Amino acid sequence: MKLLKDKIQNEGRVLSENVLKVDTFLNHQIDPPLMQAVGEEFARRFKDAGITKVITIESSGIAPAMMAGLVLGVPAIFARKQKSLTLIDHLYTASVFSFTKNESNDISVSKDFVTSEDTVLLIDDFLANGQAALGLIDIVEQAGAKLAGVGIVIEKGFQKGGAIIRDKGIRVESLAIISSLANGKVEFLGEDLS
Ligand code: G4P
Ligand code: NA
Ligand code: NA
Repeated sequence: MKLLKDKIQNEGRVLSENVLKVDTFLNHQIDPPLMQAVGEEFARRFKDAGITKVITIESSGIAPAMMAGLVLGVPAIFARKQKSLTLIDHLYTASVFSFTKNESNDISVSKDFVTSEDTVLLIDDFLANGQAALGLIDIVEQAGAKLAGVGIVIEKGFQKGGAIIRDKGIRVESLAIISSLANGKVEFLGEDLS
């Protein structure tokens, strides 16, 4: 997605060979028209998949997930990272290991919002090691729902998450795939004319 890649080139800051900071439009301040275009692109790619729900994890997945849900005309659900006082029981939970923090945290989704009737599109802002996506996939499976695929705003193609998820036979659509952050430069995989 050219609009997104241009935004990454113009505003992204390479913090290290592994980390790209994009807090001017995705992770802190959010660019609504860009998120709308992101939502339209996910909806275009998954329009024939029979999606009934979009699912993500708080917080940075919410903006792209909501825009995808808006265009697809379906609800967007975010898995919670913190245990909610009003949602103690009646939850699907999964453990998500963070390589950066070297710790596991539970995520949870109410059983009310994902069921065996649903066909789910999983959305996230970043795909790095894939642990967050695997946790959400676990929850979708617990619910007996169908997973239509995974939509990612920015995939770091040099980390292993994309391969882990695709090797499970799951469709992964990433709007920008970064092949390298070496030498302070963002390089993308593949051409993109639109
Ligand atoms: P990791 O071990 O590779 O870091 O993966 P992990 O899934 O633990 O990621 C931890 C957090 O860092 C996630 O956000 C993820 O989206 C984000 N992340 C991973 N790589 C990058 C990167 O290169 N740039 C940026 N900006 N973020 C990255 P989170 O903790 O769930 O926070 P949020 O969703 O509330 O923003
Ligand atoms: Na994040
Ligand atoms: Na995220």
